[in-house]
Amino acid sequence: MPEFAVEIEDLEVVRGGNPVIRSMSLEVGAGTITGLLGPSGCGKTTLMRSIVGAQIVAGGRIRVLGRAAGSQDLRSTVGYVTQAPSVYGDLTVRENLEYFGRVVGVGDDRVSETVSLVGLEDHFDRLVSSLSGGETARVSLASALLNRPRLLVLDEPTVGLDPVLRAELWRDFRELADGGVTLLVSSHVMDEAGECDDLLLMREGRLLRHCAPDALRRETGEEDLGRAFLEVIERTGGS
Ligand SMILES: Nc1ncnc2c1ncn2[C@@H]1O[C@H](COP(=O)(O)OP(=O)(O)OP(=O)(O)O)[C@@H](O)[C@H]1O
Ligand SMILES: [Mg+2]
Repeated sequence: MPEFAVEIEDLEVVRGGNPVIRSMSLEVGAGTITGLLGPSGCGKTTLMRSIVGAQIVAGGRIRVLGRAAGSQDLRSTVGYVTQAPSVYGDLTVRENLEYFGRVVGVGDDRVSETVSLVGLEDHFDRLVSSLSGGETARVSLASALLNRPRLLVLDEPTVGLDPVLRAELWRDFRELADGGVTLLVSSHVMDEAGECDDLLLMREGRLLRHCAPDALRRETGEEDLGRAFLEVIERTGGS
């Protein structure tokens, strides 16, 4: 396995005529859970779109699992769950996953396996529109796991979920990472940052810090990671 699942050099992205990602360079360690954190509008989704090859970039270089981002052969090794729910409410869990399975070219046996991975066996034949928010999030996650991705990019997967469901999803993420999958997980709240191995702190299109949660605590003298992030913002001259 390469040391880094994602390598970015001098990335620049412009959207609607405005610079949204500015000279960003970073590496995401293989087999880690990396949290991408920052206020609404700072560019998290744009960075994730760039990594999965869904964003036109104005400059720089992105390598994913050793290949140029967006390469055809990354389709089978990168999973992406978008911020907006991407499953069909009027289909059952099984129908959704069989449909996405056909799109990525895996058989129905893999669909059953994936449903077990996310603990939805008992809801296999339920309409997605009848599921709770957390269960629906799991269907989305399952759809991204179908092709056994080595890199999983999850855009705010736990937003709107209660603490119990969030804890369950984070256990799923950790199991995947223990199995060698690299996870990049965005959030605009800091309370999940402690679950990550590494943090990317973003603000206004720039990377403020890339460090482990404990290093951030040590640097700022703040135990609470939300306060630590605010401290970093103050030190970097933002308001
Ligand atoms: N299609 C678009 N056209 C023009 N500007 C856009 C477009 N999409 C996003 N932007 C702008 O790019 C910036 C970054 O947006 P992005 O969606 O990456 O932020 P984010 O960090 O994911 O925010 P959130 O936490 O709200 O999801 C914002 O200023 C946003 O208004
Ligand atoms: Mg976003």
